[in-house]
Amino acid sequence: MSLAETHRRATSVPNDLDAFWLPFTPNRAFKRAPRIVVGAKDMHYFTADGRAVLDGAAGMWCCNAGHNRAPIVAAIQQQAAELDYAPPFQFAHPKAFELASRLVALAPGDLAHVFFCNSGSEAVDTALKIALAYHNVRGQASRTRLIGRERGYHGVGFGGISVGGIVYNRKHFGSLLAGVDHLPQTYNREQQAFTKGEPEWGAHLADELERLVALHDASTIAAVIVEPMSGSGGVLPAPKGYLQRLRAICDKHSILLIFDEVITGFGRLGYAFAAERYGVVPDMITFAKGATNGAAPMGGVLVRKGIYDAFMQGPEHVIELFHGYTYSAHPLACAAGLATLDVYRDDGVFERAKAIEPVWADAVMGLKSEPGVLDIRTVGIVAGIDLAPRPDAPGKRGYDTLAAAFNDHDLMMRITGDTLALTPPLIISETQIAELVDKVRDVIRAVN
Ligand SMILES: Cc1ncc(COP(=O)(O)O)c(C=O)c1O
Repeated sequence: MSLAETHRRATSVPNDLDAFWLPFTPNRAFKRAPRIVVGAKDMHYFTADGRAVLDGAAGMWCCNAGHNRAPIVAAIQQQAAELDYAPPFQFAHPKAFELASRLVALAPGDLAHVFFCNSGSEAVDTALKIALAYHNVRGQASRTRLIGRERGYHGVGFGGISVGGIVYNRKHFGSLLAGVDHLPQTYNREQQAFTKGEPEWGAHLADELERLVALHDASTIAAVIVEPMSGSGGVLPAPKGYLQRLRAICDKHSILLIFDEVITGFGRLGYAFAAERYGVVPDMITFAKGATNGAAPMGGVLVRKGIYDAFMQGPEHVIELFHGYTYSAHPLACAAGLATLDVYRDDGVFERAKAIEPVWADAVMGLKSEPGVLDIRTVGIVAGIDLAPRPDAPGKRGYDTLAAAFNDHDLMMRITGDTLALTPPLIISETQIAELVDKVRDVIRAVN
């Protein structure tokens, strides 16, 4: 019996969809034609009616080593039986230390400490709070301003949406955090269309930080936060030299630089962290998603030694940072994280992503002349495909594509408006890359 068949027999579809309010989903459209998965293995999801759906999204940029990997499943099961929960304030359990050490070993430079939380949004808000508190404990309390970037996505906490730059995530939620400013986004279709990897044009946009410094004065600026590649904003790789320039300007003005690596971490761009790909050591890295291969909620912030040390002053019985979550370093998440790092190492997942990047880029660029395709961008094992919006309804073509892919072509992918985002598990074979691209071609033609 196939895996898909096993799932079809073992599971049933719920008959009342009303109570659950789905996040970031048009609920009424979804509930009229739901897309429900009941199982997964490696490169596929399975539906209750026995279909195997090719995962072109690694769930949601999470499952870099593919689904339901046996060592990760076993680690979670064993941990649940051994130690279900341990309080993270004033107490701890061994795997929290072990995982922190393993993560630090993967990180570049002197990113020597980890603060754990449960999601990317929490990781971002944690990093922003650490930045503010860091300047405070060093006697530079005037450094309160936070700088994000247009089209940036940093989760949904108030800190994250304030530094984020996606209008729909901001416009309904009041005045947000005070004292935030934004760098310009880095995409320019005229200059960059159909680029594989980092575009040549755009490094100069980092100099806009100098303009913000001139406007606000460095003494008021705490930190800059950017994604090394904007994912949810539409798959926008950093222009060549841009991140290096941002690092230099931050150094010049003692502004902290935070890389939000919630999707670029753990192999997506061919390295443990994108920071390594670009040869830049940020002051903090936020991570989540791939940290546990998506198998348990976990996020965190990698912090440079000097920042941690600045807090380790004063009487030893006093808490240094008044921040944390009930589920920080949850035992199940730590067990999942440790097993995940083993799988990444043993299977050479990051190295493989790096090796197949050219194959991936060439295959996806093959969609260039399909109807309505305005641009394609690739970097690491990621691709963004801009489709021409329907004149009367921006976002509708994107939504139709997502639905048709799942319903008619056995393909899961993500969309941002009319941009398709392809981000499969990094274990994808060359045959599966070809299969995925064929499916996307069929869908694009079908919804034209
Ligand atoms: C760059 C980035 N930061 C933060 C987040 C938020 O993560 P979460 O949904 O786990 O809160 C995301 C989610 O996609 C992300 O892409």
